[in-house]
Amino acid sequence: MKKILVTGGLGFIGSHTVVELQNKGFEVVIIDDLSNSKIDVLENITEITGIKPLFHEIDLRVKADVTSFFDTNKVDGVIHFAAFKAVGESIQKPLAYYENNIGSLVYLLQEMKNRNIDHFIFCSSCTVYGQADALPINENAPVKKAESTYGNTKQIGEEIIAESCKAYNMNAIALRYFNPIGAHESIKIGELPLGVPQNLIPFITQTAAGLRKELSVFGADYDTSDGTAVRDYIHVVDLAKAHIAALERLINKKNKANFEFFNVGTGIGSSVLEVITAFEKATGKPLNYKIVGRREGDIVAAYADTTIANKELNWKTEKSLEAALAAAWKWQQQQ
Ligand code: WQD
Repeated sequence: MKKILVTGGLGFIGSHTVVELQNKGFEVVIIDDLSNSKIDVLENITEITGIKPLFHEIDLRVKADVTSFFDTNKVDGVIHFAAFKAVGESIQKPLAYYENNIGSLVYLLQEMKNRNIDHFIFCSSCTVYGQADALPINENAPVKKAESTYGNTKQIGEEIIAESCKAYNMNAIALRYFNPIGAHESIKIGELPLGVPQNLIPFITQTAAGLRKELSVFGADYDTSDGTAVRDYIHVVDLAKAHIAALERLINKKNKANFEFFNVGTGIGSSVLEVITAFEKATGKPLNYKIVGRREGDIVAAYADTTIANKELNWKTEKSLEAALAAAWKWQQQQ
């Protein structure tokens, strides 16, 4: 049985990936510093799978602690989620973002290199494409200059991994996520946004729950079918499964280059108004919303061409937008 380190394994995508790893028979050890997650998630994962993952509360910025973890734990691969992820905050606190998102990555790769641990999966983002010139976005689309420090940490992160793979003959896959949403069907794990949500779906569910007065739809004058911005919303369980597919590709030596990257989305673009309609249909809850001006920094439209990921990872999404929104709503109601 392979043992996999999942950093940030108590977070939104990390926790769902731990469940899928355990379902596939992997042994999991989690590192999380609890800076944006709760320890209860460990128990909730255990309730879903019947297996308690190993857990270490470690801040990956502390190099000595990272070394000491690897001194005492033998792992066969690493899935690295632990990172700061707030786009706006990253522009206010660039050094904190570089220290955490880049520093931790370097420490992990150093330990892996020193111990010949070969399999590394990195959480990257469709933000690397910026506003792509063509839709849907495939992996050959150019990486554009990042508009935020957060986005830059993902671009630099991919470069660090690519160079390390080449120099040290390691193997890694970066998954470029589109917009992850939803919750596990057990409704035991889901997204726990701190404070006022910045992302569309948690804002919708909190509005439907009466915690927010109304949803502001940022811009209805875009060049899209109904004027609102378009994104590719992927169910978090489908996204989690892409990590297992990527890991198995590396373990089975099916990768075609030391460093590969794949777009992980559904291939379907949905406008903000389409998401609102789908939410109302999936939950029967009418949503209070109003159209306001555009949000600074937003792109018009992004959705994935999933052809390469579907073929190479032998993976595809299975869940609908409605299913993801219904799960997000059940999760909200249970909070
Ligand atoms: C979606 C759409 C908004 C809130 C995400 C992540 C970011 C990066 C890229 C990971 C947009 C609109 C939103 C609201 C709205 N991911 N909206 N009212 O901007 O695609 O960014 O993907 O690397 O970290 O956040 O996602 O959910 O913020 O917005 O109208 O109150 O919903 O303008 O068109 P976005 P989002």
